[in-house]
Amino acid sequence: MKAIRIHSPGGPEALVLEEVASPAPKQGEALVRIEAVGVNYIDVYMRTGQYKMSLPGTVGLEAAGVVQELGPGVTTVKVGDRVAYCGVPGAYAELAAVPADRLVQLPDGIDARQGAAAMLQGMTAHYLTHSTYPVRSGDSCLVHAAAGGVGLLLCQIAKKRGARVFGTVSTEEKARRAREAGADEAILYTQADFATEVRSRTGGRGVQVVYESVGKTTFDKSLDCLAPRGYLVLFGQSSGAVPPVDPQVLNQKGSLYLTRPTLFHYIASREELLARSRDVLGWVADGSLKLTIDRALPLAQAAEAHRLLESRQTSGKLLLIP
Ligand SMILES: NC(=O)c1ccc[n+]([C@@H]2O[C@H](COP(=O)([O-])OP(=O)(O)OC[C@H]3O[C@@H](n4cnc5c(N)ncnc54)[C@H](OP(=O)(O)O)[C@@H]3O)[C@@H](O)[C@H]2O)c1
Repeated sequence: MKAIRIHSPGGPEALVLEEVASPAPKQGEALVRIEAVGVNYIDVYMRTGQYKMSLPGTVGLEAAGVVQELGPGVTTVKVGDRVAYCGVPGAYAELAAVPADRLVQLPDGIDARQGAAAMLQGMTAHYLTHSTYPVRSGDSCLVHAAAGGVGLLLCQIAKKRGARVFGTVSTEEKARRAREAGADEAILYTQADFATEVRSRTGGRGVQVVYESVGKTTFDKSLDCLAPRGYLVLFGQSSGAVPPVDPQVLNQKGSLYLTRPTLFHYIASREELLARSRDVLGWVADGSLKLTIDRALPLAQAAEAHRLLESRQTSGKLLLIP
């Protein structure tokens, strides 16, 4: 089969299309014929070596397709089932052997592209707004990179829960997209001081929660956007890692909470995986959550997908099609 592998950390050119042996499903695994791969920012961290992966290795944590073969002991899926998954390495490929308890059945009306677009970013937006800081009606929240893959979903879900949503974006076009997704206010953080904007637009009060995925370049000012006892939810670092933080700053800026969550701890049990994916896929199926697929590129163009993502040229989900 064909797969996109890296041999050592590097730029997008480190992603190479190779012919490798097809995986055989082991105990508890199902072999999935992949129809669509989800590209996520975490793939960039893994490619560059910011996050570790075993090398040489196949990149990618999210895909959807059809079950082609079962390993011993699998009872939760059968050959021919349409499934999606995330959090299992090796997705930039034509085939993947996946623990069957990580597979979710795709409901009728949801195709593989939608499945691969919804799982990782959708369940992230879900746990951030329902579990890490459960957004309540009347809250104000700030979503960084509001026109990104996670950002567009976060805006929609936070709005649905009754919040006033501020979104930061780098361009007017992205501002338009964030507003379309439910952001009440879009702030061009490349031009304006977003902390000053948020303070003045909330009458000086600040927001209850900042969903912070940009990291290095925005972190300090994100603290300045929060109301007393507000939550800084640092869930990504697309501009680089945040340096060490002095906990005393949380006291000085209003008894703030700081958390650094990851999806994989919020879908660790099968029950939680099924509950979150059922919500997200259900909302996509009934039209109440809109997926934005920025583009779908052939698997061989994985390097181009990473270039686009890192250079902030995308809005919504990038897919690779084997
Ligand atoms: N912890 C978790 O559970 C979890 C799960 C999923 C994703 N994430 C994180 O969520 C974030 C969004 O992921 P995504 O896959 O949906 O990506 P994305 O938001 O579609 O792309 C990243 C966006 O970040 C913004 N950005 C700001 N400064 C940047 C810089 N220096 N370089 C590149 N981008 C920059 C850009 O938007 P503008 O052009 O508008 O600035 C860019 O489009 C990432 O940080 C990712 O690691 C975390």
